[in-house]
Amino acid sequence: MKLFDTHAHLDDAWFDDDREAVIENIKNSGVAHVMEVGSDVKSSEKAVGIANAHDFIYCAVGIHPESADGADDKDFERIKELALTEPKVKAIGEIGIDYHYDDCAPREKQTACFERQLDMARELGLPAIIHDRDSKGDVLRILKEKNVSNAVMHCFSGSAETAKILVNMGLMISFTGVVTFKNARRAIEALKVIPLERLMIETDSPYMAPEPHRGKRNDSSYVRYVAEKIAEVKGVSFDELCRITYENAIRFFNI
Ligand code: NI
Repeated sequence: MKLFDTHAHLDDAWFDDDREAVIENIKNSGVAHVMEVGSDVKSSEKAVGIANAHDFIYCAVGIHPESADGADDKDFERIKELALTEPKVKAIGEIGIDYHYDDCAPREKQTACFERQLDMARELGLPAIIHDRDSKGDVLRILKEKNVSNAVMHCFSGSAETAKILVNMGLMISFTGVVTFKNARRAIEALKVIPLERLMIETDSPYMAPEPHRGKRNDSSYVRYVAEKIAEVKGVSFDELCRITYENAIRFFNI
């Protein structure tokens, strides 16, 4: 069995008291690889440090839409420098648009930050990890305008119709523990239309803990619950689902 958690935030302050113990437990739980994802310059630097200290962890660097407001040229240059000089950096992320909270960055700042990093990912030949929360179609519009295909839509929460569009554009789609929730009907419908070779699994830990741990701190060792549920929906064995999503991630991140 091979599990690849393609989206985790081990740099999160929630792990400050016991990070190394958590990482040790993840490794012992049978998880083969973790993609540790940054959300601003500081957390991206932390992500690189965590990946460099652990063979089985890789990382992504980028500026999340929630940090878009304060991002300046120097920050984008630093992200690029990390991507160019650190061999464990395998993607630009997480980047995207989030209109869910009113106090998030202004819309024009978010779209500019997103577009700039999509261009950076293309220039560097790296895949992009995309966050889309209530973007009212702006993420999809920008991806189409820029003809982006080397990207994953992370923590997918859209409809089956949107999933089909993304698949046709060539994107990967990744699901969290949300698929295990009782009210996950929409995610399950989307899952059904996505070919196995376009699927990846993730925890988005420390958030989004799957059932039966919903509401608690999440970590990569719980990615198995996501795999179990997706295997059930797709009608394949747990081992087969793990193998396919693992190979998808290895190919996508060019590891
Ligand atoms: Ni995330």
